[in-house]
Amino acid sequence: MEHNVKIAVVGSGYVGLVAAACFAEMGHDVICVDNDESKVRLLNSGGVPIFEDHLLALLQKHLNVRLRVTSDLKTAVERSDAIFIAVGTPQGSSGAADLSHVEAVVRQVARCVNGYKVLVEKSTVPVYTNQWIAKCMLLNRIPRDSFDVVSNPEFLREGTAVCDFLHPDRIVVGANNQRSENMLRRIYGPLISGDYYSSESSIPGPLSRCNPAKLLVTSAQSAELIKHASNAFLAMKISFINAVANLAESVNGDIEEIAAGMGLDSRIGAKFLRAGLGYGGSCFPKDLAAFTWVAEQQGIDLQILKNVRQINAKQQDVFFNKVRSALWTLRGKKVAAFGLSFKGGTDDIRESPAIDVVRRLLVEGCSVAAYDPAAMEKARSVLPGSNSLRYVNDPFMGAQDADAALILTDWPEFSRFDLNRLKRAMRFPTVIDGRNLYKPSQMLEHGFTYFSIGRPDVHPVPVPAGTALANRDLSQVPPAIRTQDPPSTGQQF
Ligand code: UDX
Repeated sequence: MEHNVKIAVVGSGYVGLVAAACFAEMGHDVICVDNDESKVRLLNSGGVPIFEDHLLALLQKHLNVRLRVTSDLKTAVERSDAIFIAVGTPQGSSGAADLSHVEAVVRQVARCVNGYKVLVEKSTVPVYTNQWIAKCMLLNRIPRDSFDVVSNPEFLREGTAVCDFLHPDRIVVGANNQRSENMLRRIYGPLISGDYYSSESSIPGPLSRCNPAKLLVTSAQSAELIKHASNAFLAMKISFINAVANLAESVNGDIEEIAAGMGLDSRIGAKFLRAGLGYGGSCFPKDLAAFTWVAEQQGIDLQILKNVRQINAKQQDVFFNKVRSALWTLRGKKVAAFGLSFKGGTDDIRESPAIDVVRRLLVEGCSVAAYDPAAMEKARSVLPGSNSLRYVNDPFMGAQDADAALILTDWPEFSRFDLNRLKRAMRFPTVIDGRNLYKPSQMLEHGFTYFSIGRPDVHPVPVPAGTALANRDLSQVPPAIRTQDPPSTGQQF
């Protein structure tokens, strides 16, 4: 059996570009199509529009060998057996995903069909999209036996996208017949057989020849729902731990201890239990809205998802109240903002809680010095141009004479600050940590006033009774917490 498959990937966003590069890496002949000519030019000149580990190396390795980038959809479809649709599905005004880009691609594909094709949904789409795609092909007079539609949702995370793609927890294939299932089995063959991991040049990760990727075959509807339900479940874990964090804080508990204790139960698991400013990014907010809408269309009220979204939105108020508790009045205060991307390891600022916090600080009249290792350029394009907002190339420059430093994103470098240097730079050594990157006891030892999420505040000097701060003064914290650090749960990025 021939293993190499001719693949077209339509759309060169996060999912499309990573999928195209990884399919080439797996030995397939890939044509990546985008109607944005400037993006095509950039990619063909060796550039990469997104910040993603391994991606540049894979593009350099395969470009014009097994991977071509073009705006010519017709040729790509004619030369391919499988066509992955990886175009954007932005959130519409009702919360539903806007599928107009998907439909436009399907119509164009229909005009170019020259033999049996498998159309694969890679974008996150609502349940039944596979049937709409099939209907669109039929309406465009493509015979039923000339195509199949498969749902193959993608679970990659930004920042670790290439590794997630090549070392997946699972590959879900929603195929309604054997012929199309076989095509997807051939495509993912190198990962399922483990052959890919035997190669010396393979991208390292958790899977190996002896522990290869698992492929799960379901109906197309189930595959579509698996994607939405997975993202909703992960977002629910985050909102759950944030809700518990607020309770923990009110009784002087410690959310890191609680998460560690819960996470050791293998039925719960330790991942996605990091309390903080809440989730952001291009997927969770959009997918939760879309999933809620899908359920409503079926007459099912997924109230639980509404609660997840409410808790997430409220988490920023929780954080902002801490900023007020720490600084009292905000007008004219100098604040260092560490982090702008929605999470560490990416330059993506879509739905970033950090961006919202900076916006709010500016509205309240603070003077903000913002630093992010990767996202400053993108932040400039969305944050208001203002004399009160400076972008700095070094976090210590941002901290100079600051009344407080805010940790807004979980970049690894933010958890390794030289605390003595940070303290010397600041006017008042106050850190408000929206990502729990430090232990309260460690910050206290270094002489910081330190606020975090779901843990007791610590103050090197006693706080006068009657202020908001007094409610969470260390003197009220049980001795066990004051003297003992919670066990480290390790950083996950
Ligand atoms: C997510 C899913 O993980 C991925 O499977 C899907 O394909 C796309 O959406 P991504 O958006 O890249 O991936 O980010 P992820 O690492 O999941 O984090 C999402 C948000 O949740 C970030 O803002 C992150 O800071 C936050 N988060 C994550 C927490 O607040 N606490 C946690 O414990 C984990």
